[in-house]
Amino acid sequence: MKRISLTRYLIEEQRDNNSIPAELRLLIEVVARACKTISHSVSKGALGDVLGAAGSENVQGEIQKKLDIISNEILLEANEWGGHLAAMASEEMENFHPIPNRYPKGEYMLLFDPLDGSSNIDVNVSIGTIFSVLKAPEGMKEPCEKDFLQPGSKQVAAGYAVYGPQTVLVLTTGNGVHAFTLDREMGSWVMTQRDMKIPADTAEYAINASNARHWYPPVRRYISELEAGKTGPRGKNFNMRWIASMVADVHRILNRGGIFMYPADEREPDKPGKLRLLYEANPMSLLVEQAGGAATNGEMRILDIQPTKLHERVAVFLGSKNEVELVTRYHAAQG
Ligand code: AHG
Ligand code: MN
Ligand code: MN
Repeated sequence: MKRISLTRYLIEEQRDNNSIPAELRLLIEVVARACKTISHSVSKGALGDVLGAAGSENVQGEIQKKLDIISNEILLEANEWGGHLAAMASEEMENFHPIPNRYPKGEYMLLFDPLDGSSNIDVNVSIGTIFSVLKAPEGMKEPCEKDFLQPGSKQVAAGYAVYGPQTVLVLTTGNGVHAFTLDREMGSWVMTQRDMKIPADTAEYAINASNARHWYPPVRRYISELEAGKTGPRGKNFNMRWIASMVADVHRILNRGGIFMYPADEREPDKPGKLRLLYEANPMSLLVEQAGGAATNGEMRILDIQPTKLHERVAVFLGSKNEVELVTRYHAAQG
């Protein structure tokens, strides 16, 4: 079998399909290399003294784990000096990170959730890194926060690495979704899936059901119909999976379909859900749409949302198209 490395895939995309400029190719290679380093740290676990809390909180008031900080540092350090970026932003940093003046600057902006699924770090369950790439606005001199506030449809690349039984990088540059497995002996990413597709129908759903008492009526209605199974209005049985690492839940959905939900709920009407628009929802929505699925906040396509702040949160319904459309219709019906 011919082994296609990530490098070869990117060079062929650049040369044959003209879909990736050289600087974007470099950026993706650097992010992939950083993910390799994070994967190495993750796999060391207690032996590398990377488990446990860091003793700090991030801007969202979440307790930071050592690996949240280590992964953030690895991504910053890897991407700072190559000349391909204008600025970076991360879930773990209150303010965005401009490229220091001692380094050349490029035309891209990188956003990331350095370590997704933090609650799973210490229990050896799959976690990951999510990233999103935007172009700096035309004529930008010094980057400012509003330069990051572009709708997800403007992303030029998005992807994630999942650190599970295997480490797998899943990537889109707007020309399908492809997966690359890390070959640890060779130190290279090898393409193992080309053109991943999410089936339009599914019998599997993912939601943190411990929040059920707080859900709004459209979500209650949708979930109760799934729970009712074969004798209910849907006429079939549904199975549930919840890993509590969005990366791992989305990876399952890209492989065999399903719907993933993190709705807003009645607890804090001003807080639209838990997940972050720029670092989590946007990149995952681009991947899901590129694989033939759909992604909404219950009301509109996530990729069309105009962000208003860096750490904005959003409700998320994504995955198999027919299910996402149904739960979105239930929201519209509610008015
Ligand atoms: P993070 O670790 O980056 O803060 O993200 C965790 C997110 C997401 O990965 C996951 O789907 C969800 O939070 C889990 O939430 P619950 O704790 O409510 O299960
Ligand atoms: Mn996350
Ligand atoms: Mn995180």
